[in-house]
Amino acid sequence: MIQAKGVDYVYPSGKQALSGINLEVARGEFVAVVGHNGSGKSTLAGLLAGLERPARGQIIIDGINTRDKKNFLVLRKKVGMVFQNPENQLVFEKVKDDIGFGLKNIGFPQAEIETRTAEISRKMRIESFTGSFELSMGQKQRVAIASVIAMGPDCIIFDEPTAMLDPKGKKDIHNIIIELHKQGMTIVYVTNVIDEVLAADRIIILENGSISGEVKREELFDNVERLRGAGLEMPVIMDMLFRLKQRGVDIIVKRWSIDAVVENFISYINGIENQNNLNMQ
Ligand SMILES: Nc1ncnc2c1ncn2[C@@H]1O[C@H](COP(=O)(O)OP(=O)(O)OP(=O)(O)O)[C@@H](O)[C@H]1O
Ligand SMILES: [Mg+2]
Repeated sequence: MIQAKGVDYVYPSGKQALSGINLEVARGEFVAVVGHNGSGKSTLAGLLAGLERPARGQIIIDGINTRDKKNFLVLRKKVGMVFQNPENQLVFEKVKDDIGFGLKNIGFPQAEIETRTAEISRKMRIESFTGSFELSMGQKQRVAIASVIAMGPDCIIFDEPTAMLDPKGKKDIHNIIIELHKQGMTIVYVTNVIDEVLAADRIIILENGSISGEVKREELFDNVERLRGAGLEMPVIMDMLFRLKQRGVDIIVKRWSIDAVVENFISYINGIENQNNLNMQ
């Protein structure tokens, strides 16, 4: 679906934000991107969406090179992008104008814009939303996603879409992303939140503008320290397990839920007690 080959990116200031990026995202895949502040995540997201062009190397989306400016509108129908701050994505007073804006830009007739807008609003459960400025951040983000979906893309790039939302808003948007993926959407998800990363097939690690590694979902627990070092935020309980491990208490966690951790903890303690009993006999 998307291929990045030997991609460098340099800002007009002269700052080289990305170097030597090689990455392939297959159709239907769910790829997470993690990395510290300034590692180049947003720059990469913009390039993969075809919004920016590389200084060197190339980005190919569905066979189309993003370098050629005349492909810009064609690419808008193939790949959408959702930003951290939905307020940057919504420009109109009325929600329906925001959803229809992209379609208008690519020349859809008004009647079809209205039909599509109504259909997407139903799907995204935002029919009751009217004024864009009266919505919560979570609701605004839902509208922003709806405006991207309206274009009918095969792939959506999300750049930390839940960072500015409250816990309920975060969960809501996260669930929408998982649902979109289930329906066949290709997803690139920039996030430093472990609960969000868990939905991905694989995790790309960005460090100082380069890909320093890749972790498959099933390898995640064996790579916790590495991902943490690359900026991934850990929940308190995982942080605690990690510190216990450093002190020699290695509790093996196979499934990531509080209940599973409690069970593993109890098994560990029982194991020690059994060992002590054996030693005393
Ligand atoms: N418009 C710009 N002009 C010059 N340099 C920029 C610009 N935008 C970003 N940079 C620089 O490029 C590098 C990568 O920035 P980028 O925004 O891609 O990082 P990021 O991983 O998304 O960070 P964050 O976690 O803060 O969102 C940083 O060093 C940043 O300072
Ligand atoms: Mg960023």
